[in-house]
Amino acid sequence: MDDVTLAVRAGERRALIGPNGAGKTTLFNLISGELSASAGSITLFGRDVTRAAAHRRAALGLARTFQITNVFPSLTVLENCLLAVQALSPVKLAMHRSLGRYPVLHTHARATLEAVGLADRAGAVVKHLSHGEQRQLEIALALAGRPRVLLLDEPTAGLSPAESQMMAGLIKRLDPAMTVLVIEHDMDIALEIVRHVTVLHYGRVIADGTREDVRANPLVREIYLGA
Ligand SMILES: Nc1ncnc2c1ncn2[C@@H]1O[C@H](COP(=O)(O)OP(=O)(O)OP(=O)(O)O)[C@@H](O)[C@H]1O
Ligand SMILES: [Mg+2]
Repeated sequence: MDDVTLAVRAGERRALIGPNGAGKTTLFNLISGELSASAGSITLFGRDVTRAAAHRRAALGLARTFQITNVFPSLTVLENCLLAVQALSPVKLAMHRSLGRYPVLHTHARATLEAVGLADRAGAVVKHLSHGEQRQLEIALALAGRPRVLLLDEPTAGLSPAESQMMAGLIKRLDPAMTVLVIEHDMDIALEIVRHVTVLHYGRVIADGTREDVRANPLVREIYLGA
């Protein structure tokens, strides 16, 4: 990262775009705390979290997905979701009690699957899901802790055009109070999901503005769109 300044308002939908290796995932790693910043500062809800561990930032309401699929393949969709819900809930599990004995966790897990359009796949084993469904599940897992800020790293990576459209629709339907920062390779999808775009190139912000501003920016057209 090279002197990046980025401010995202509560409830805003922002896309982060840029060529391969621009530093998009690195920026997510810095925001979420997987990497620690060697300079500068990161503020979450007005609180300085520059030195806070990733789990502290998560507890403050930050959630993310990863560029590669990150689920338990041998468990069912509902089991994956229950694990994510219980990990972030104050309810403590007793090992000898089945998960079915925790109705509050179940209700929340089912509602989360509903939000990503996977309710009817709750009983399916994850390794049998399509790639698109696995990516939906990852979003469900990120939503399990009821985050106020959600970072999505290429949610449409590897998806067919139809699946990408479905994913774009899903993201657009998320709770409008939640802040969403999404890395998206496909410019058309990015511009469909958000109004505001930040363009990174070689670790620097080279453009920041509305879809129209970014589309018209000559530097962006040259470097990113190859125009
Ligand atoms: N910990 C690290 N130390 C040194 N270099 C790194 C580190 N992590 C990533 N890089 C390099 O920094 C650059 C930015 O990587 P990053 O993964 O953030 O790019 P990206 O914009 O997410 O790209 P892509 O679109 O391919 O996902 C790459 O050249 C990468 O090899
Ligand atoms: Mg990346």
